Amino acid sequence: MFYEVTDKNDWLTHFKSLIVPRPIGWISSKNNNGQINLAPYSFFNAIATIPPMVVIGPGGYSKSGNNKDTLLNIKNNPEFVCNFVSWDVKDIMNESSYSFDNNESEIEKLNIETENSTMVSIPRVKLSPAHFECTLFKIIDLPSDSKGNPNHLIIGNIIGINISDKIIKNDRIDIGELKPISRMGYDEYALINTIFSMKRPK
Ligand SMILES: Cc1cc2nc3c(=O)[nH]c(=O)nc-3n(C[C@H](O)[C@H](O)[C@H](O)COP(=O)(O)O)c2cc1C
Repeated sequence: MFYEVTDKNDWLTHFKSLIVPRPIGWISSKNNNGQINLAPYSFFNAIATIPPMVVIGPGGYSKSGNNKDTLLNIKNNPEFVCNFVSWDVKDIMNESSYSFDNNESEIEKLNIETENSTMVSIPRVKLSPAHFECTLFKIIDLPSDSKGNPNHLIIGNIIGINISDKIIKNDRIDIGELKPISRMGYDEYALINTIFSMKRPK
């Protein structure tokens, strides 16, 4: 089967189901009233190591018809935290994807416990086993779809990395303890259950 990328969007679910598994950045950010927003983004990844950088891809509008809160907030207050999504927080992560108004905080609505970050003014989710504390590097406007729904790329500098001692064993991240959840297509998610090593050619 071949799909030309047209407005018919018949390729869309296949496209999203091929870019798997995707890590999930559960992004905390702050609105102009100081309220903390929290939302999951699976168009999320690291793109550089030294200095370390992340990208987030907010697309479309929230229910209010505005750009998604994460984008608006980071534009106005250029700091955010990427909270890691482990098995234990998967359900509350999913609930936080509901399109709350910009003046409603997912943290307050869903009773999510947070703690102060070290380098940025945005709190982090206490139950997440790891956090990237970030400042905004750049926001890039991407082409909109044929109906005018916008796409953006948020690029951030990671300036602090917080890792729970529980998930470090023998100076390595213990994936069995981290239990990262990743996003697949449709309503599917994945857990890692097979790990193998390969040496790079010399
Ligand atoms: C696991 C998961 C991954 C998601 N990834 C994205 C994404 O990459 N880009 C996007 O625009 N929305 C994504 N969403 C939807 C947003 O989380 C949702 O639109 C949310 O209401 C945005 O919140 P905000 O307006 O507070 O930023 C995802 C939802 C889930 C459950």
